[in-house]
Amino acid sequence: MNSTQEKTITVIRTRVALQQQVRVWKAAGETVGFVPTMGALHAGHLSLVEKAKETASRTVASIFVNPTQFAPGEDFDTYPRREAEDLALLEGIGCDAVYLPGVAEMYPDGSVTDVRVNGMSDLLDGIYRPHFFYGVATVVARLLLHAQPDVAIFGEKDFQQLQIIRRMVRDLGFAVRIIGGETRRDADGLAQSSRNLYLSPEERQVAGAMFAALHRAAVRLSLGAKPADVRAEATAHLLRSGFRSVDYIALVDSDSLIALPDEVALTTGSARLLGAAWLGRTRLIDNLSVTR
Ligand code: PAF
Repeated sequence: MNSTQEKTITVIRTRVALQQQVRVWKAAGETVGFVPTMGALHAGHLSLVEKAKETASRTVASIFVNPTQFAPGEDFDTYPRREAEDLALLEGIGCDAVYLPGVAEMYPDGSVTDVRVNGMSDLLDGIYRPHFFYGVATVVARLLLHAQPDVAIFGEKDFQQLQIIRRMVRDLGFAVRIIGGETRRDADGLAQSSRNLYLSPEERQVAGAMFAALHRAAVRLSLGAKPADVRAEATAHLLRSGFRSVDYIALVDSDSLIALPDEVALTTGSARLLGAAWLGRTRLIDNLSVTR
Protein backbone atom coordinates (compact mmCIF):
# COMPACT_ATOMS: atom_id res chain seq x y z
CA MET A 1 0.00 0.00 0.00
CA ASN A 2 1.37 3.47 -0.79
CA SER A 3 0.93 6.40 1.60
CA THR A 4 -1.86 8.02 -0.43
CA GLN A 5 -4.12 4.94 -0.16
CA GLU A 6 -6.83 4.83 2.51
CA LYS A 7 -6.30 2.41 5.36
CA THR A 8 -8.94 -0.30 5.11
CA ILE A 9 -8.50 -1.86 8.54
CA THR A 10 -10.44 -0.37 11.44
CA VAL A 11 -8.40 0.04 14.62
CA ILE A 12 -10.51 -0.23 17.76
CA ARG A 13 -9.13 0.42 21.23
CA THR A 14 -12.13 0.19 23.56
CA ARG A 15 -14.62 -2.54 24.48
CA VAL A 16 -17.57 -0.21 23.89
CA ALA A 17 -16.43 0.69 20.38
CA LEU A 18 -15.79 -2.96 19.52
CA GLN A 19 -19.19 -4.07 20.80
CA GLN A 20 -20.82 -1.24 18.86
CA GLN A 21 -19.05 -2.25 15.61
CA VAL A 22 -19.97 -5.91 16.08
CA ARG A 23 -23.61 -4.95 16.79
CA VAL A 24 -23.75 -2.96 13.53
CA TRP A 25 -22.33 -5.90 11.55
CA LYS A 26 -24.69 -8.43 13.14
CA ALA A 27 -27.71 -6.16 12.59
CA ALA A 28 -26.79 -6.22 8.89
CA GLY A 29 -26.82 -10.03 8.94
CA GLU A 30 -23.04 -10.45 9.01
CA THR A 31 -21.14 -13.05 11.06
CA VAL A 32 -17.95 -12.32 12.98
CA GLY A 33 -14.79 -14.42 13.14
CA PHE A 34 -12.29 -13.54 15.87
CA VAL A 35 -8.56 -14.28 16.18
CA PRO A 36 -7.05 -13.34 19.55
CA THR A 37 -3.26 -12.87 19.48
CA MET A 38 -0.44 -11.29 21.43
CA GLY A 39 1.00 -9.75 18.25
CA ALA A 40 4.44 -10.26 16.65
CA LEU A 41 2.40 -11.89 13.94
CA HIS A 42 3.78 -14.61 11.69
CA ALA A 43 2.38 -16.84 8.95
CA GLY A 44 0.75 -19.07 11.59
CA HIS A 45 -1.35 -16.17 12.89
CA LEU A 46 -2.21 -15.08 9.36
CA SER A 47 -3.44 -18.59 8.54
CA LEU A 48 -5.81 -18.29 11.53
CA VAL A 49 -7.14 -15.02 10.11
CA GLU A 50 -7.58 -16.71 6.73
CA LYS A 51 -9.56 -19.46 8.46
CA ALA A 52 -11.72 -16.84 10.20
CA LYS A 53 -12.37 -15.25 6.80
CA GLU A 54 -13.51 -18.63 5.44
CA THR A 55 -16.01 -19.12 8.28
CA ALA A 56 -17.41 -15.62 8.85
CA SER A 57 -18.18 -12.54 6.74
CA ARG A 58 -16.27 -10.15 9.04
CA THR A 59 -12.94 -10.75 10.73
CA VAL A 60 -11.53 -9.18 13.89
CA ALA A 61 -8.05 -9.88 15.27
CA SER A 62 -6.96 -8.70 18.70
CA ILE A 63 -3.45 -7.85 19.83
CA PHE A 64 -2.92 -7.75 23.58
CA VAL A 65 0.16 -8.93 25.47
CA ASN A 66 -1.71 -10.24 28.48
CA PRO A 67 0.16 -9.58 31.75
CA THR A 68 -1.81 -12.16 33.75
CA GLN A 69 -0.42 -15.09 31.78
CA PHE A 70 3.20 -14.21 32.58
CA ALA A 71 4.79 -15.04 35.95
CA PRO A 72 7.34 -12.68 37.53
CA GLY A 73 10.68 -13.37 35.82
CA GLU A 74 9.06 -14.52 32.55
CA ASP A 75 9.33 -12.56 29.31
CA PHE A 76 6.42 -10.07 29.63
CA ASP A 77 8.71 -7.02 29.30
CA THR A 78 10.73 -8.41 26.41
CA TYR A 79 7.86 -10.10 24.55
CA PRO A 80 8.11 -8.76 20.96
CA ARG A 81 5.78 -5.81 20.27
CA ARG A 82 5.43 -4.75 16.63
CA GLU A 83 2.18 -2.89 16.30
CA ALA A 84 2.87 -1.10 13.00
CA GLU A 85 4.13 -4.27 11.26
CA ASP A 86 1.23 -6.30 12.66
CA LEU A 87 -1.35 -3.79 11.43
CA ALA A 88 0.19 -3.80 7.95
CA LEU A 89 0.10 -7.62 7.85
CA LEU A 90 -3.54 -7.76 8.98
CA GLU A 91 -4.54 -5.08 6.53
CA GLY A 92 -2.65 -6.92 3.77
CA ILE A 93 -4.77 -10.06 4.20
CA GLY A 94 -8.06 -8.19 4.43
CA CYS A 95 -8.81 -8.40 8.16
CA ASP A 96 -11.68 -5.98 8.81
CA ALA A 97 -10.77 -4.73 12.28
CA VAL A 98 -8.11 -5.05 14.92
CA TYR A 99 -8.82 -4.69 18.61
CA LEU A 100 -5.90 -3.11 20.47
CA PRO A 101 -7.03 -2.70 24.09
CA GLY A 102 -4.77 -1.32 26.78
CA VAL A 103 -4.36 -3.06 30.14
CA ALA A 104 -7.00 -0.82 31.76
CA GLU A 105 -9.53 -1.83 29.10
CA MET A 106 -9.00 -5.56 29.73
CA TYR A 107 -8.55 -5.26 33.49
CA PRO A 108 -10.51 -2.20 34.67
CA ASP A 109 -9.26 -0.69 37.89
CA GLY A 110 -10.13 -2.89 40.86
CA SER A 111 -10.93 -5.90 38.67
CA VAL A 112 -10.94 -9.12 40.77
CA THR A 113 -12.69 -11.69 38.56
CA ASP A 114 -10.71 -14.64 37.24
CA VAL A 115 -11.68 -17.67 35.17
CA ARG A 116 -10.10 -20.98 36.17
CA VAL A 117 -10.51 -24.16 34.15
CA ASN A 118 -9.55 -26.49 36.97
CA GLY A 119 -7.66 -29.71 36.42
CA MET A 120 -6.75 -29.28 32.76
CA SER A 121 -4.85 -26.10 33.62
CA ASP A 122 -2.67 -27.94 36.14
CA LEU A 123 -1.33 -30.62 33.78
CA LEU A 124 1.57 -30.55 31.28
CA ASP A 125 2.54 -26.87 30.80
CA GLY A 126 0.49 -26.03 33.90
CA ILE A 127 3.03 -27.91 36.03
CA TYR A 128 5.86 -25.69 34.75
CA ARG A 129 3.84 -22.47 34.40
CA PRO A 130 1.20 -22.76 37.16
CA HIS A 131 -0.23 -19.25 36.60
CA PHE A 132 -0.37 -19.52 32.81
CA PHE A 133 -3.71 -21.07 31.87
CA TYR A 134 -5.59 -19.10 34.52
CA GLY A 135 -4.32 -15.92 32.88
CA VAL A 136 -5.20 -17.26 29.44
CA ALA A 137 -8.74 -18.34 30.41
CA THR A 138 -9.36 -15.03 32.16
CA VAL A 139 -8.26 -12.90 29.23
CA VAL A 140 -9.89 -15.07 26.56
CA ALA A 141 -13.22 -14.97 28.44
CA ARG A 142 -12.96 -11.17 28.56
CA LEU A 143 -11.93 -10.92 24.90
CA LEU A 144 -14.88 -13.11 23.84
CA LEU A 145 -17.25 -10.91 25.85
CA HIS A 146 -15.76 -7.80 24.25
CA ALA A 147 -15.83 -9.13 20.69
CA GLN A 148 -19.05 -11.23 20.82
CA PRO A 149 -17.88 -13.32 17.84
CA ASP A 150 -19.73 -16.18 16.17
CA VAL A 151 -16.49 -18.09 15.68
CA ALA A 152 -13.07 -17.80 17.34
CA ILE A 153 -9.90 -19.41 16.00
CA PHE A 154 -6.95 -20.59 18.09
CA GLY A 155 -3.82 -22.36 16.84
CA GLU A 156 -3.31 -26.07 17.44
CA LYS A 157 0.32 -25.25 18.15
CA ASP A 158 -0.87 -24.33 21.67
CA PHE A 159 -2.92 -27.50 21.93
CA GLN A 160 -3.42 -27.45 25.70
CA GLN A 161 -4.57 -23.82 25.49
CA LEU A 162 -7.01 -24.70 22.67
CA GLN A 163 -8.56 -27.57 24.63
CA ILE A 164 -8.83 -25.49 27.81
CA ILE A 165 -10.59 -22.72 25.88
CA ARG A 166 -12.99 -25.26 24.34
CA ARG A 167 -13.77 -26.54 27.83
CA MET A 168 -14.26 -23.02 29.24
CA VAL A 169 -16.62 -22.11 26.39
CA ARG A 170 -18.61 -25.30 26.95
CA ASP A 171 -18.74 -24.93 30.75
CA LEU A 172 -19.74 -21.25 30.70
CA GLY A 173 -22.08 -21.49 27.71
CA PHE A 174 -20.41 -18.88 25.51
CA ALA A 175 -22.33 -18.62 22.22
CA VAL A 176 -19.22 -19.03 20.10
CA ARG A 177 -17.81 -21.86 18.01
CA ILE A 178 -14.14 -22.56 18.70
CA ILE A 179 -12.08 -23.75 15.74
CA GLY A 180 -8.50 -25.03 15.87
CA GLY A 181 -6.09 -23.83 13.17
CA GLU A 182 -3.41 -26.19 11.90
CA THR A 183 0.17 -25.48 13.02
CA ARG A 184 2.29 -23.71 10.41
CA ARG A 185 5.85 -25.00 10.18
CA ASP A 186 9.15 -23.86 8.76
CA ALA A 187 10.88 -26.09 6.19
CA ASP A 188 12.64 -28.12 8.93
CA GLY A 189 9.35 -28.66 10.79
CA LEU A 190 9.81 -26.00 13.49
CA ALA A 191 6.34 -24.83 14.56
CA GLN A 192 5.99 -21.10 13.90
CA SER A 193 5.88 -19.07 17.11
CA SER A 194 6.53 -15.45 18.04
CA ARG A 195 9.08 -16.74 20.56
CA ASN A 196 11.18 -18.25 17.73
CA LEU A 197 12.49 -14.68 17.41
CA TYR A 198 14.47 -15.34 20.62
CA LEU A 199 16.53 -18.12 19.01
CA SER A 200 20.14 -17.37 18.04
CA PRO A 201 21.19 -18.51 14.52
CA GLU A 202 22.95 -21.52 16.12
CA GLU A 203 19.87 -22.43 18.17
CA ARG A 204 17.65 -22.04 15.13
CA GLN A 205 19.75 -24.74 13.40
CA VAL A 206 18.92 -27.10 16.26
CA ALA A 207 15.28 -26.11 16.86
CA GLY A 208 13.85 -28.38 14.12
CA ALA A 209 14.81 -31.35 16.34
CA MET A 210 11.62 -30.75 18.37
CA PHE A 211 9.44 -31.62 15.40
CA ALA A 212 11.79 -34.41 14.28
CA ALA A 213 11.70 -36.04 17.74
CA LEU A 214 7.92 -35.76 18.07
CA HIS A 215 7.31 -36.93 14.52
CA ARG A 216 9.51 -39.99 14.96
CA ALA A 217 7.78 -40.70 18.27
CA ALA A 218 4.31 -40.35 16.73
CA VAL A 219 5.23 -42.79 13.94
CA ARG A 220 6.69 -45.30 16.45
CA LEU A 221 3.55 -45.05 18.59
CA SER A 222 1.32 -45.56 15.57
CA LEU A 223 3.27 -48.75 14.81
CA GLY A 224 2.66 -50.04 18.31
CA ALA A 225 5.77 -49.01 20.28
CA LYS A 226 5.33 -48.58 24.04
CA PRO A 227 4.72 -44.94 25.08
CA ALA A 228 7.33 -45.14 27.88
CA ASP A 229 10.05 -46.26 25.41
CA VAL A 230 9.05 -43.64 22.87
CA ARG A 231 9.07 -40.83 25.46
CA ALA A 232 12.57 -41.85 26.56
CA GLU A 233 13.80 -41.96 22.95
CA ALA A 234 12.32 -38.55 22.13
CA THR A 235 13.88 -37.02 25.26
CA ALA A 236 17.28 -38.51 24.37
CA HIS A 237 16.89 -37.25 20.77
CA LEU A 238 16.30 -33.67 21.99
CA LEU A 239 19.19 -33.68 24.48
CA ARG A 240 21.54 -35.21 21.91
CA SER A 241 20.54 -32.53 19.40
CA GLY A 242 21.49 -29.68 21.75
CA PHE A 243 18.36 -28.95 23.82
CA ARG A 244 19.31 -27.99 27.38
CA SER A 245 16.49 -29.82 29.16
CA VAL A 246 13.15 -31.45 28.46
CA ASP A 247 10.15 -30.48 30.60
CA TYR A 248 7.96 -33.26 29.24
CA ILE A 249 7.13 -35.55 26.37
CA ALA A 250 3.61 -36.81 27.05
CA LEU A 251 0.99 -38.94 25.31
CA VAL A 252 -2.43 -37.75 26.46
CA ASP A 253 -6.12 -38.08 25.73
CA SER A 254 -6.89 -35.27 23.25
CA ASP A 255 -9.95 -34.01 25.13
CA SER A 256 -9.10 -34.41 28.80
CA LEU A 257 -5.31 -34.03 28.40
CA ILE A 258 -4.88 -36.84 30.92
CA ALA A 259 -1.85 -39.08 30.30
CA LEU A 260 -2.74 -42.30 28.51
CA PRO A 261 -1.62 -45.53 30.15
CA ASP A 262 1.09 -47.46 28.32
CA GLU A 263 -1.24 -50.32 27.33
CA VAL A 264 -3.95 -48.05 25.82
CA ALA A 265 -5.37 -48.84 22.36
CA LEU A 266 -5.05 -45.72 20.20
CA THR A 267 -7.99 -44.77 18.00
CA THR A 268 -8.19 -42.04 15.39
CA GLY A 269 -7.89 -38.55 16.82
CA SER A 270 -8.03 -39.71 20.43
CA ALA A 271 -4.40 -39.22 21.40
CA ARG A 272 -2.02 -36.30 21.27
CA LEU A 273 1.71 -36.28 21.79
CA LEU A 274 2.99 -33.06 23.35
CA GLY A 275 6.49 -31.87 24.12
CA ALA A 276 8.14 -28.92 25.85
CA ALA A 277 11.88 -28.38 26.03
CA TRP A 278 14.43 -25.65 26.57
CA LEU A 279 16.83 -24.59 23.84
CA GLY A 280 19.19 -22.17 25.55
CA ARG A 281 16.90 -19.58 27.16
CA THR A 282 13.95 -20.32 24.88
CA ARG A 283 11.23 -22.79 25.77
CA LEU A 284 9.74 -24.50 22.72
CA ILE A 285 6.48 -26.46 22.71
CA ASP A 286 4.91 -28.55 19.99
CA ASN A 287 2.43 -31.39 19.55
CA LEU A 288 1.16 -33.92 17.03
CA SER A 289 -1.90 -36.10 16.69
CA VAL A 290 -1.20 -39.82 17.10
CA THR A 291 -3.25 -42.58 15.50
CA ARG A 292 -2.70 -46.26 15.19
O1 PAF B 1 -1.97 -17.78 22.20
C1 PAF B 1 -1.90 -16.56 22.48
O2 PAF B 1 -1.39 -15.75 21.71
C2 PAF B 1 -2.46 -16.09 23.81
O3 PAF B 1 -2.27 -17.04 24.82
C3 PAF B 1 -3.92 -15.63 23.74
C4 PAF B 1 -4.84 -16.79 23.36
C5 PAF B 1 -4.07 -14.53 22.72
C6 PAF B 1 -4.36 -15.10 25.11
O4 PAF B 1 -3.58 -14.04 25.53
